[in-house]
Amino acid sequence: MSEHYTVQNYVDDLQATVAAAESESEILSKVRPLAQKLVENRDTWIKPEHYEVNDERGSSLYVLHEGKDHTLMVFAACFRPGRVTPVHDHGTWAVVAGVDGEEKNTIYLRTDDGSKPGYGEIQFRGDKVVRHGDAIGMPAGTFHTVSNESNEVSVSLHTYGMNTNHTVRCQIDPETGKVDEFKIPLREG
Ligand SMILES: [Fe+2]
Repeated sequence: MSEHYTVQNYVDDLQATVAAAESESEILSKVRPLAQKLVENRDTWIKPEHYEVNDERGSSLYVLHEGKDHTLMVFAACFRPGRVTPVHDHGTWAVVAGVDGEEKNTIYLRTDDGSKPGYGEIQFRGDKVVRHGDAIGMPAGTFHTVSNESNEVSVSLHTYGMNTNHTVRCQIDPETGKVDEFKIPLREG
C-alpha cells in the first residue's frame, strides 16, 4: 500500500491541483484524497513530537510545509483529550485528514452580513468525527470547532490554501456574537 509518498510529493501534487482547478470546490474534492494518501504514508513524515500537546492551549500545530509566499500551508495538529477550540474560521480553504484518535468537527455557517463591527451570528450545520483515514474539506468562510472527546491525544493533517496567520480570520463567541481576529503560535515541524 505504501508508495513512499512524502510531504514534498504531496506539496507537488497540491501545487499542480491548485494551478489546474477552476473552483474552490474542485480544489477541496481533489485535495481530500491526496491528504488521505499522505496519511496512509505517514511513516514518511510523522514524528513522536507531533503528539506533544502544548499544556496551556491543549493543542499544538507543527508546520510541515509553507510556500515562500505563505500559500499551501501543511500542519500536523494534535489535541489533548477534553480540548475544545473556540468557534473559528480560517480565511482560506481547509482540508483536515485524521491520522490518529478522534476529532469532532462541528461546522457552522456565518449568517450575518458582517456589517456590525465586532459582531457575528452563526448557525449550526452539522458535525463529523474525523478518525484515521477520514478527510473533510471546508470552503473559506466555514466556521468550526474541534473537540477531542476521547481519552487519547488526537493527531490530524491540516492543509490550508494559505498560512492562516497571513489571512484575516476570526473567532466568534456563539453566546454573545463577539468577533475577535486571532493568530495561533506555530511550531517548526
Ligand atoms: Fe480550524
